[in-house]
Amino acid sequence: MSEVKTIPAGTDLIEEIKALRKERNAVILAHYYQKPELQDLADFVGDSLELSRKAAETDADVIAFCGVKFMAETAKILSPEKIVVLPDMEAGCSLEDSCPPEKFAAFRARHPDHIAITYINCSTEVKALSDIIVTSSSAETILQQIPKDQPIIFGPDRHLGGWLSRKFDREMLLWPGVCIVHEAFSETELLKLMAQHPGAPVAAHPECPPAIIDHADHVGSTSSILNFARDFPGDTLIVATEPHIMHQMEKALPEKTFIGAPGADGNCNCNICPYMALNTLEKLYVALRDLEPRVEIEEGLRLKAKASLDKMLEMASASVGKGDLGPVSAG
Ligand code: 13P
Ligand code: SF4
Repeated sequence: MSEVKTIPAGTDLIEEIKALRKERNAVILAHYYQKPELQDLADFVGDSLELSRKAAETDADVIAFCGVKFMAETAKILSPEKIVVLPDMEAGCSLEDSCPPEKFAAFRARHPDHIAITYINCSTEVKALSDIIVTSSSAETILQQIPKDQPIIFGPDRHLGGWLSRKFDREMLLWPGVCIVHEAFSETELLKLMAQHPGAPVAAHPECPPAIIDHADHVGSTSSILNFARDFPGDTLIVATEPHIMHQMEKALPEKTFIGAPGADGNCNCNICPYMALNTLEKLYVALRDLEPRVEIEEGLRLKAKASLDKMLEMASASVGKGDLGPVSAG
């Protein structure tokens, strides 16, 4: 695990980060699964698609990415001229780990008539081996634009792929990866929680297994779950995704109650993403001060990965501007 470099005693981290952001002409981007203090400092908080768009559009010199490695790499692929720093380079993703590029290339080679539609939660190498990237908020729009008779490989999340396949009655060859965070929700404990809160709807991320999705009133990306939290008519919502998303709900909707869906031990601590949790205020401060650790990508690889990401940005345009709770302004 990487160590936090020396920080002088008495440093006011929040004030120093704000000063460094200005000095470096940096933008701080954060995912909804980040710690509340990082979300509150960010210039923009969003889901994977929104963060990709922001990274492509910003005119800042530096992007400080509070998220995981594949997200920061996406920012670098789309904005190669910018310095992209990730507070902790060990912030990976179980989905990325499940899909080694050489195995994915061999899988593709065995199915030459299939196109590869790939979840953004993968390495740059796997993006380069794919035809179209999707996020959970763009997957439905994009899938509907692919001719019905076109065979598809979908990876690396078998639950997102399975949910899309059931929803659109469309067969796809699924890569067998899972998100360890969403995999940890317990159906038994969820049913107990639902019985304690009769009438409370359940909102679930499509990375959840079918046993959880089957009980959900709403299934969608983090930003769509935030929209549902705003719009559902009741006062209590059960949330089956990484619990840090509830920070935005509690800020924007203090009159409503949000309850995290439980893991097998009956509480939701096992659903905190251990990778996202590696980023801290201290590490963000050091990253802005030292402009390290930086994301670097070899140019040939970047261009190949950019082609599948550009395809997503082009095809996803129909899904933009649905009026989510974010964006969140600078702290
Ligand atoms: P979205 O925010 O795009 O729904 O992605 C969720 C996630 O797991 C990111 O790692
Ligand atoms: Fe990966 Fe799951 Fe963490 Fe998202 S929540 S970064 S999919 S391990």
